[in-house]
Amino acid sequence: MPAITATAPGKIILFGEHAVVYGRPAIAVPVNEERARAIVMADPRGQVGEIRINAPDVGLETSLEQLPEDQPIRAAVEGVLSELGIARPPACTLRITSTIPISAGMGSGAAVSVALMRALSSFLGHPLSNAHVSELAFEVEKIHHGTPSGIDNTVITYAMPVYYVRGQPLETLRLPEPFVIVIGDTGLPSPTALVVGELRGDWQMDQDKYEALFDSVAVIVKDARATIENGNMGALGALMNQNHEYLRQMGVSSPELESLVEAARSAGAAGAKLSGGGKGGNMIALTDDGGAVEIESALRDAGAVRTIVTTIEESKYIQTDA
Ligand code: PMV
Repeated sequence: MPAITATAPGKIILFGEHAVVYGRPAIAVPVNEERARAIVMADPRGQVGEIRINAPDVGLETSLEQLPEDQPIRAAVEGVLSELGIARPPACTLRITSTIPISAGMGSGAAVSVALMRALSSFLGHPLSNAHVSELAFEVEKIHHGTPSGIDNTVITYAMPVYYVRGQPLETLRLPEPFVIVIGDTGLPSPTALVVGELRGDWQMDQDKYEALFDSVAVIVKDARATIENGNMGALGALMNQNHEYLRQMGVSSPELESLVEAARSAGAAGAKLSGGGKGGNMIALTDDGGAVEIESALRDAGAVRTIVTTIEESKYIQTDA
């Protein structure tokens, strides 16, 4: 059995995080520059049914059954085996590596699940379709996130820019004009499940306030979609700034995110906002080709531990099965 490799990109949410958990739309794009990679190799000395896990980034070197049942890698492997009806797979080693920062709003968990599910199902001779992979990865996302909207597993599985509404068929975005995003990482790990849970508590205390905020975000997301699909990039920055303001009002920003957003705007970004769960993790800034270097250096001066520049352009994304 030859070794099988599969990869999956990171992702970034451009508009609509949190409101998307409450049924509003959101826009997310893959970040192809950062990827999770899974390699499955036959293990000639192992016993049938034995799967070894080797994930050096998170210090794992163990057999599958030694992992807790709700450990996401174990859950992802067992999801594939049960989907394929295979109880005792051939002995193999699953090696997982990733360049996607962990707990930073870039979908590292979903990307590991997707890469692993693709590599393992191909190794077992039954490559899963995107729809199946996305569905199984969503189940694992519930361990990471509690009540995920499904946007991470969707954008990462299809590796296409998406306009996402929970429970609705996939809609990909047209991108007539490329645009450049600088991602700035506060370096503060912020587990999404925690922030989503806190917001859920606040929403329960004052549903009117939060529903109104989510509605305002939905208007921005729809505007942003039209703006992107019309190639009218000049209007996109202001929409980012407005979305950030609503996220602040939801209480999911932090002093560290505020200083990075401020620094990016002062360095000439057309707009900037936090991205993902918030209270740490990442922010994004919109720029043109020339402005990225200056924004990156301003972000680092303001405390970013990492910056990533990604160009969002049609030719980077290849539509596979839907
Ligand atoms: O970008 P992440 O992985 O932190 O996801 C956050 C997105 C939320 O809308 C806050 C949660 C979700 O499941 O959509």
